[in-house]
Amino acid sequence: MNSQDKIKQLIDLRERARKGGGEKRIKVQHSKGKHTARERIQILLDEGSFEEYDMFVTHRSHDFGLEQQQYLADGVVTGHGTIDGRIVYLYSQDFTVFGGSLSETHAAKICKIMDQAMKVGAPVIGINDSGGARIQEGVRSLAGYAEIFERNILASGVIPQISAIFGPCAGGAVYSPALTDFILMSDQTSYMFVTGPKVTKTVTGETISTEALGGAQMHASRSGVAHLVAGDEEEGLLMIRKLISYMPQNNVEDPPITECSDPIDRLEDSLNDAIPDNPNEPYDVKDVIFAIVDHNEFFEIHRQYAMNIVVGFAKFNGMPVGIVANQPNHMAGVLDIEASRKAARFVRFCDCFNLPIVTLVDVPGFLPGSAQEHGGIILHGAKLMFAYGEATVPKITITLKKSYGGAHDVMSSKQLRGDINYAWPTAEIAVMGPKGAIEILEGKTLKTIQEREEMLRFVQEKEKEYKEKFANPYEAARYGYIDDVIEPRNTRFRIVRALQTLASKKDMNPPKKHSNIPL
Ligand code: HXC
Repeated sequence: MNSQDKIKQLIDLRERARKGGGEKRIKVQHSKGKHTARERIQILLDEGSFEEYDMFVTHRSHDFGLEQQQYLADGVVTGHGTIDGRIVYLYSQDFTVFGGSLSETHAAKICKIMDQAMKVGAPVIGINDSGGARIQEGVRSLAGYAEIFERNILASGVIPQISAIFGPCAGGAVYSPALTDFILMSDQTSYMFVTGPKVTKTVTGETISTEALGGAQMHASRSGVAHLVAGDEEEGLLMIRKLISYMPQNNVEDPPITECSDPIDRLEDSLNDAIPDNPNEPYDVKDVIFAIVDHNEFFEIHRQYAMNIVVGFAKFNGMPVGIVANQPNHMAGVLDIEASRKAARFVRFCDCFNLPIVTLVDVPGFLPGSAQEHGGIILHGAKLMFAYGEATVPKITITLKKSYGGAHDVMSSKQLRGDINYAWPTAEIAVMGPKGAIEILEGKTLKTIQEREEMLRFVQEKEKEYKEKFANPYEAARYGYIDDVIEPRNTRFRIVRALQTLASKKDMNPPKKHSNIPL
C-alpha cells in the first residue's frame, strides 16, 4: 500500500465507523423519533469542535458467535468538544450497535474520557441509549459498569456530571446516571427502571406499562429521578447547553461571569405589591424570581417535582447563582419530605461548584401528619438543614413573608451561616402563625368564653396584638438575625451588591474525612 492508499484506508474506516450498526438500523432509530449517537453530538456541541477518541475500538468477545459481528467504536461514541467555547467530555451510546449495550471495551472507552475529564477539570456529559449489559459478555460487562460507577463517585463534586436519557436505561445501568448531578429525560422516548414491566409482573403480579413504570413524566413528577424533561432530543440537548452555562468547569473554578445589559439598579415597582394583604391569598414566587434576575431568565430544575419549593439557576449582573424559594402557590409553600430532599440536593450541588445561593423565604413550617412523620420528615428535613449549614458559598436570604418555626431555621437562617439576611416589610418571622399561637397561649381563656361573637372578638384582638408583637421582621432585626429590612422593589439591587461584596468570601468547615449527612 502506498501512502495514498493508506490515507484512503483511513477515510474508509472512518466512514465505516460513522455508519454505526448500518443504514437499516439507523432508519429504525429515526423511525422511533430518535437521533443517532453522532447526530446528538452534532446538536450538543459547538460546530466543528468534536474530537473523537477510540473510533477503531472493537469488542474482544468470542462467545455466541460475536466475533463475526464487529462494529468500529463498539456502540459508544466518545471524545470531547466545546459548548460556548468551553471544553466538555462526553459519551453517546449508539443504539444501532448491539442496542447500545455495554461491553468491556465500551465501558473502557467511557472510563478513558472520564479519567481525562478529571485530569483536565472539565464536565462530563453522558448520552444514554442502551439495552444495558451486553448479554454475550456476562460478568465482564458488569465489571465495566462498576468501573464507570466508581469514576462517577470519585468525580462527584469535582467536575459537573450530566446524564441525558434518550432511550432505554434499565437494570443496573440506571445507577451511573443516578450518581451524576443532573438527569434529563426525553418525553415518550426514554425510560429508566431497575426492573422492567415483565419482571415486575412476574414478581409482584402488578401490570404496568413501560411509560407508567419508568417514563419521563413519572420520573419528573413522582420519583424525582429526572431533573429535566424535554419534549424531544433536540430540545433536551439545547437545555444541556444552557445548564452547562451556569456551571464552572470544576470545583476549584468560579462559575463563568458573562456580560449583562440588564441594569443592576432596575427598580421593580410591582414587587412592592407582590405580597397580597389577605394572608390566605397565594401568589407565585416565580413572579418574584423573574422580576429580580437578569433579563427575567430562570432555568428551573425539578419543575414538576415537589412544587412547594422552587429551585433553579439564574444570573445577577452576569453572575450565576442557585435560587431556592418556597412556593406559596403550592401547598402554601410548606416543607415536606420531597421538598426537603429536592432543595437539599440542589443546595449541595451549588456548594460543590461555588455557586452562591439566593434563598427566598415564605414558609409556614413543616407539613404535619402521620404520612410525613412515618415517612421520616425528621431525617429529610435535617438533610436540608445540613445542606444549608454545611454550605460555605455566599448565602443570601430574603424573607418575603412567613418564616415560621423550625422551617425558619432551616431556610438559610443567620445561625446556619447565612451571610446576608434581608427581609421585606411584609415578613413575619416567628415561632408560629398568630392563630396557632393564640390557641396555645390563650387556650384556657378561650374555654371560659362562651359567647361565639365575644370569642371571635377576643381572638381578633389577640391576633392583632400577636401580629404587632411577633408577625413582623423587626423583632428578628432587633436581634440582628435580619441584617436589614428592605423595600421589595430594591431587591435586585440589594442582591447584586450582596453578591459583589461576598465574591471574596472565604469560609471553611473543620477538617474531616467527610460529613455524615442524615441520608
Ligand atoms: C446485547 C442487545 C442487548 C443487550 C439489545 N440488543 N439489548 N444485544 N445485549 N443487552 C440488541 C438486540 O439483539 C438487537 O440486535 C438490537 O440490540 C436492538 O434491539 P431490539 O430488541 O431489536 O430493540 P427494541 O425492540 O427497541 O428493544 C430494546 C430493548 C430490548 C427493550 C432494550 O432490546 C431489550 O429488552 N434488551 C435486553 C435488555 C436487558 O435485559 N439487558 C440486560 C439488563 S441487566 P439486532 O442485531 O437484531 O439489531 C443489566 C445489568 C447491568 O443491564 C448491571 C450493572 C450493575
